[in-house]
Amino acid sequence: AESEYPRVRARTAKERKAARPRPMWLLRSQLAELRDEVEAGRAAAVERQHALGKRTARERIDLLLDEDSFVELEIYRTHQARGFGIDGNRPHSDGVVAGSGTIDGRRVFVYAQDFTLFGGSLGAAHAAKIHKVMDLALAAGAPLIGLNDSGGARIQEGALSLDGYGGIFRRHVEASGVIPQISVILGPCAGGAAYSPALADFTFMVRDTAQMYLTGPDVVKTVTGEDVTHEELGGADVHGTRSGVATFVHDDEESCLHDVRYLVSLLPSNNLESPPAEPACGAQSDERPRLAEIVPTEPNQPYDMRAVLAELVDDGEYIEIHEHWAGNVVCALGRIDGEVVGVVGNQPMVFAGVLDSPGAQKAARFVRFCDAFNIPLVTLVDVPGFLPGTEQEYGGIIRHGAKLLYAYCEASVPRVQVIVRKAYGGAYIVMDSRSVGTDLSLAWPTNEIAVMGAEGAVNVLHRKRLAEAPDPDDLRAELIQEYRETLMYPLYAAERGLVDDVIDPVRTRAAVARGLAMLRHKRRQAPRRKHGNIPL
Ligand code: HXC
Repeated sequence: AESEYPRVRARTAKERKAARPRPMWLLRSQLAELRDEVEAGRAAAVERQHALGKRTARERIDLLLDEDSFVELEIYRTHQARGFGIDGNRPHSDGVVAGSGTIDGRRVFVYAQDFTLFGGSLGAAHAAKIHKVMDLALAAGAPLIGLNDSGGARIQEGALSLDGYGGIFRRHVEASGVIPQISVILGPCAGGAAYSPALADFTFMVRDTAQMYLTGPDVVKTVTGEDVTHEELGGADVHGTRSGVATFVHDDEESCLHDVRYLVSLLPSNNLESPPAEPACGAQSDERPRLAEIVPTEPNQPYDMRAVLAELVDDGEYIEIHEHWAGNVVCALGRIDGEVVGVVGNQPMVFAGVLDSPGAQKAARFVRFCDAFNIPLVTLVDVPGFLPGTEQEYGGIIRHGAKLLYAYCEASVPRVQVIVRKAYGGAYIVMDSRSVGTDLSLAWPTNEIAVMGAEGAVNVLHRKRLAEAPDPDDLRAELIQEYRETLMYPLYAAERGLVDDVIDPVRTRAAVARGLAMLRHKRRQAPRRKHGNIPL
């Protein structure tokens, strides 16, 4: 009779062979082969990437990190989406290389989007890998560096892609002020993807290959009728000079990633650490004769504040933040006597160093970054005031100027102010004056702290007398002289306790270094609150 159990068919020789445990040498060589294949990527796509003047994700990571330091995470992860023909296309790594390595021996976490797979677009698995790296960076208290090169949300994965972006943004905000976050744009960065760099502390872009915008040229054309190229809409120069979205702009990926390494070398790993110091180099007794020559004593003559900055920092070496945007304010990171400092200065070479909305925003964000990461602030003042006019007022200069005021008032790091020349009106107060909490105020003998410049003041105070005078020019000159002698002589502010010392300009580096040494262990406890309400 027929058995109620199905008959078990004897296995073929081939099946028996396949079921046999494979020997270790074979497993190892198959694994090595697969890994090589995943790391090499698809030849045609890699070639296309190179033809576009771009490196692959792995080549970029090699340039960024110390040799052989990279630990990769989830290299074999694939997407699990269905439909639109991507079921049969599940490449390992899912278009993003993620992990950790070192820069000059210090730990960092990194992800690099791989444009050769799905245009680097972000789906659920891709996002989960980035989330993981971000979570680890925060847990380990190490900087996060994102290398972006992506077509944005992966269209085939629909809402899950958007959900993935949201998770990235939330993590950026959670990590803000805890670990340094750096975004590097090395290709397209379209749509909501651009909010990742916007939330980072620093954003690097490369000319010609990197573009960032919320809506691309096609949508712009449909909605507004404007004809605009990718580069005109969101290229590196646009964001480096006009929008202020890019902090650093580079000609090529190599110099860009080199500068990322340099920037990291100046930053602490997290908000509980001090920035990495180098051995002291004797700055506390330095004399810099050039400092007596750079600044003209005539208040209206321009000069380059970066020349002063270069005399103050060790080896004349610094990295300028937003070099090409809001040039009337200079922000830079460098070292004085081996210790990292953030320097904010007015730039008399651009709009006479006047403060305007972009300048105030640039300085405010920099001051807050330095404060969050324990970087002392040195403020070089030569400011004729805020920029007048309807454009500025309508654009909310009151709001933007208040950001800088707020940032300084809130900063608890050591603060040294150096009044080089003009310090007029509200702009004097904002530029880290005694009243908003600077710890040490130094002034050059050229300092002019006043409500306004002598000429303007005399015109207001003596309008009637000047109108009636037989020789108004002579009288004006006389009154200006009198105003200067009464309210603007070199020791005026020092006699009233607004300035700690009036120093010989050639001794500025020494005086700042001594001041910072005095303030090194400064602590200030702010009252408890959820958070302040900075005028955004
Ligand atoms: C899926 C994408 C993709 C995307 C590109 N690809 N973008 N796949 N989802 N978003 C794929 C392409 O189909 C192509 O696949 C490969 O990547 C390379 O793309 P190309 O178009 O050939 O490259 P290129 O000519 O260099 O143009 C790059 C590009 C263009 C400018 C980025 O691909 C583009 O416009 N993509 C769409 C950008 C976009 O609108 N994204 C959504 C933004 S909205 P094959 O197989 O042919 O090689 C968004 C919302 C986020 O991101 C919201 C967060 C809150």
